Amino acid sequence: MDDGADVELAAWLENRTTFEPPASFVEQANVTDPDIYEAFEENWPDCWERAADLLDWRRQWDTVLDDSDAPQYEWFADGQLNAAENCIDRHVEAGRKNQAAIRWVGKRGETETYTYGDLKRETEAFAAALRDLGVGEDDLVTLYLPMIPELPIAMLACARIGAPHSVVFAGFSANALETRMRNAEASYLVTCDGYYRRGDALNHKGKADRAVRNLDWDVETVVVDRLGGGLPHSLGDGQYDYGTLVDDYWGESVEPVVRDAEDDLFVMYTSGTTGEPKAVRHTTGGYLAQAAWTSHAVLDIKPDDTYWCSADIGWITGHSYIVYGPLALGSTTVIYEETPDYPEKSRIWELIERYEVSVFYTAPTAIRAFMKWGKEHPDEHDLSSLRLLGTVGESINPKAWKWYYEHIGNESCPIVDTWWQTETGGMMITTLPGVSTMKPGSAGQPLPGIDAKVVGEDGEKVDPGEAGYLVVDRPWPGMLRGLAGSDERFVDEYWQPFSDPDDGEWVYFSGDSAKVDEDGYITLLGRVDDVIPLGDFRIGAMEIESAIVGVKGIAEAAVVTTGSELLAYVSTERGYTGDAVLRRRVVDAVEDDIGEVAVPDHVVFAPELPKTRSGKIMRRLLEDIATGEELGDISALRNPETVGELRARLAGET
Ligand code: WTA
Repeated sequence: MDDGADVELAAWLENRTTFEPPASFVEQANVTDPDIYEAFEENWPDCWERAADLLDWRRQWDTVLDDSDAPQYEWFADGQLNAAENCIDRHVEAGRKNQAAIRWVGKRGETETYTYGDLKRETEAFAAALRDLGVGEDDLVTLYLPMIPELPIAMLACARIGAPHSVVFAGFSANALETRMRNAEASYLVTCDGYYRRGDALNHKGKADRAVRNLDWDVETVVVDRLGGGLPHSLGDGQYDYGTLVDDYWGESVEPVVRDAEDDLFVMYTSGTTGEPKAVRHTTGGYLAQAAWTSHAVLDIKPDDTYWCSADIGWITGHSYIVYGPLALGSTTVIYEETPDYPEKSRIWELIERYEVSVFYTAPTAIRAFMKWGKEHPDEHDLSSLRLLGTVGESINPKAWKWYYEHIGNESCPIVDTWWQTETGGMMITTLPGVSTMKPGSAGQPLPGIDAKVVGEDGEKVDPGEAGYLVVDRPWPGMLRGLAGSDERFVDEYWQPFSDPDDGEWVYFSGDSAKVDEDGYITLLGRVDDVIPLGDFRIGAMEIESAIVGVKGIAEAAVVTTGSELLAYVSTERGYTGDAVLRRRVVDAVEDDIGEVAVPDHVVFAPELPKTRSGKIMRRLLEDIATGEELGDISALRNPETVGELRARLAGET
């Protein structure tokens, strides 16, 4: 295409606000019936049987929803199944043992393919090993692994024997791992010796050892040899070589443990408004049903597809849409260990071409980076295998949406902008790609059967165009079943704000603000609490702040985001100055307490942080200063003079 036509197309795209799904997509889509919304509504909650029917059950359920103990809802409660059996065995039994289940691409360009047959043998061997190490049904196993095949294998081995897993993101620090293991009283850990990043080998086991050393109970640790140099012959007490275990147990068959639908499949730690991370509980039946159903209806995954979600398995997106959803449907899932621009910026597109990926699911922050790197990278590759594109994690601005649509999707792939959370387990608000009109920037309507709406402080729906709080009125199968060890916090954080328990009315509060248009399309506006979405996952501002104020000489800290960068405003105690040494200590403290992922891009030292007369730090104002927004009236501040000072320091810093 010549440059003139390119400019013309860009201008045309720029002004377009709605897009219809391409006919070529609709013709082959899994869900195409526009009446599905009404059909679900009329038949609620039994409509959700359509999701559960995508799975194989050992015992059929009688009751779809039990709401007698709300908000402790139960779904398909008297049904029984095993998640690993649904993700592996049934595909093998259907004669598909040679189909690729996982295509793994490692950081050094290594590739490995696991067929469903391979996956069955390897998970069974590891399940047998775990069982012999003493892991029983309902014993929690912590998995602290990077994006290597052993991570999904360990998850599925746990699922096979009915042991809930708790995956801790590999980029988290020793302290963060320790907090999570302590909170869960975890006695089993699977980790690795190290892993590569941009060619360098990182010592991962050192972090795992530090965490375990601080626990005052015994932990059995399995270590994967990821660096490839072999593990030391003697690993230390209670430590086992994954490779040796799998060899020893190779060929053993392990019957999948029959689980009740409401038995836990996993816990996933996530951030809230306080410093203490929350252990979100997900169950076997409802979670898996929603993950499979949304993979089918929204991601349009078919068994023959090679599908790629670029998230990390350490977050909920990877759990639901790299592992459980795509494998439950028997498709091929790509697992990519490296960052998207290494060893070169066309890596992702090269792999899409090589594996003929048909569905690609990523985060807007990645798309913005792709845009910055330039369209020449995708242009170099044949991306015609792509049929559908998706995004998750934050709102996608229309400009990025259109770039994705044009340069990656070649204007022939619908885009699904999917809103959901760790707590919801699966997608909640997005378009059905074979049915709905798309509006760049807006996630879309709630999915069929999902009762999400935007309400004011009073809990009443707001008018179209007005901002309000995003709530979900009726339960859904993939919803969290609670926070491990904290029933009170479960009710306080999610239910108390908009429910009327005396009237038996329970309304789930998402923590997000949103607005809705005349067609019922929901546009997300951001968090209303101090939780910061960072693309693939989220972190509580408070968690980072408490790490920072732990540094000697620091008085106060407030962390905000501009959308693309993380900033920490930090005030010092008398006698200390915000110099390079203190800055280093701040960075080290965040790295030690949480991990490198949460280190602020900028640390702005200030004599004082702006506060209200009642002494509350004005975060919104700090955000506006960071983004360079027009500031409103600041005369009501206790210390308005700090504002000019902060601006000057930020200008010096950035
Ligand atoms: C944000 C990730 C706008 C939101 C699956 C939510 C989004 C938080 C979108 C959950 C989207 C997620 N548009 N915002 N499509 N998807 N979010 O638990 O603030 O890591 O509450 O789950 O990410 O983050 P979490």
